[in-house]
Amino acid sequence: MYNSKITGLGHYVPEKVVTNDDLSKLMDTSDEWIQERTGIQERRHVEKEGGDTTTSMGVEAAKIAIERAGIDKDDIDFIVFATLSPDYYFPGPGVLVQRDLGIKTVGALDVRNQCSGFVYALSVADQYIKSGMYKNVLVIGSEVHSKGLDMTTRGRGVSVIFGDGAGAAILSREEDTTKGILSTHLHSEGQHAEELALLAPGMGGRWVNDIVSDNDPDDTSYMPVMNGQFVFKNAVVRFSEVILEGLGTNDLQASDIDLLVPHQANLRISQFVQKKFGLSNDQVYNNIMRYGNTTAASIPIALTEAWEEGKVNKGDLVVLAAFGSGFTWGSVIIRW
Ligand code: UT7
Repeated sequence: MYNSKITGLGHYVPEKVVTNDDLSKLMDTSDEWIQERTGIQERRHVEKEGGDTTTSMGVEAAKIAIERAGIDKDDIDFIVFATLSPDYYFPGPGVLVQRDLGIKTVGALDVRNQCSGFVYALSVADQYIKSGMYKNVLVIGSEVHSKGLDMTTRGRGVSVIFGDGAGAAILSREEDTTKGILSTHLHSEGQHAEELALLAPGMGGRWVNDIVSDNDPDDTSYMPVMNGQFVFKNAVVRFSEVILEGLGTNDLQASDIDLLVPHQANLRISQFVQKKFGLSNDQVYNNIMRYGNTTAASIPIALTEAWEEGKVNKGDLVVLAAFGSGFTWGSVIIRW
């Protein structure tokens, strides 16, 4: 048996900064409302025409992670790509990364677990490495939200929250099983699938061309919807549960945590979790102020920035946790 460890991290965000004031020109919202309810000050959006895509941003993040891991692209044995906003409905972006990075014909898997996508993707990669099947796995989380949001007052409860970006990690074999990823914990509760969802193009029977041919301006099935308060209440409970589960599995206490990197859903959720576990501001990494909620990309972007800022050091206990659409949630316990 082996462990897996993160040997390289990278992130990429599009250049265009969109402030809360920019959004208030498009819909009935305000900088005050957004900051008070979510902590978000600005987010990045890709250009409407041309420019970055979910895959291209993932590729850029991956290049940095590969270089920092000190490996060659041909040392990568497998690709796992988490996103809810693929370039194409199919095929998923995993194969596009294999093509665009010019990696040999290794397997490429796409993960569809929204805000928990990166945690699920890491867990999959971890198992392949633990079993001895692969040595180096490229794990990517990337999202283009801005092209799919309802930028009118009708969509303001969702569209002010989400931003675009990508993060990537190289997970490599670690022979010392007291180091690296100690455990991962995954959950789902499909009973609440429609509380945070984008229903098109499946629609339980309808398909893309039916929806397009309807051409109905009131058809919001291709826009994300969210029952915000319900999601919030579930998030704070599940974040706490799954962190405790991870600590318990490893005989650890909250006081052992050196750094918690929560999925960046809402600064208020992160602060609730911070308080519950008695952590200081230095022990919880947040960057939602600058990027909004980038779904599957949020943890790898935050972890990369935390690492770049010297907040992740050898021997540290690092905890990742996420909750989101599905509902799905999970945690990863890492001894760095
Ligand atoms: O990452 C995946 C998981 N996602 C989450 O964890 C998100 C969890 N939920 C949340 O973060 C919060 O519920 C939101 C930030 C989405 C919303 O905050 P809230 O405090 O729950 O607000 P609300 O939905 O209860 O809406 C309060 C009021 C409503 O007006 P009335 O009915 O009181 O007159 C909304 O229409 O705020 C209104 N509102 C807005 N006003 C200005 C909703 N969105 C906006 C907006 N600007 N963008």
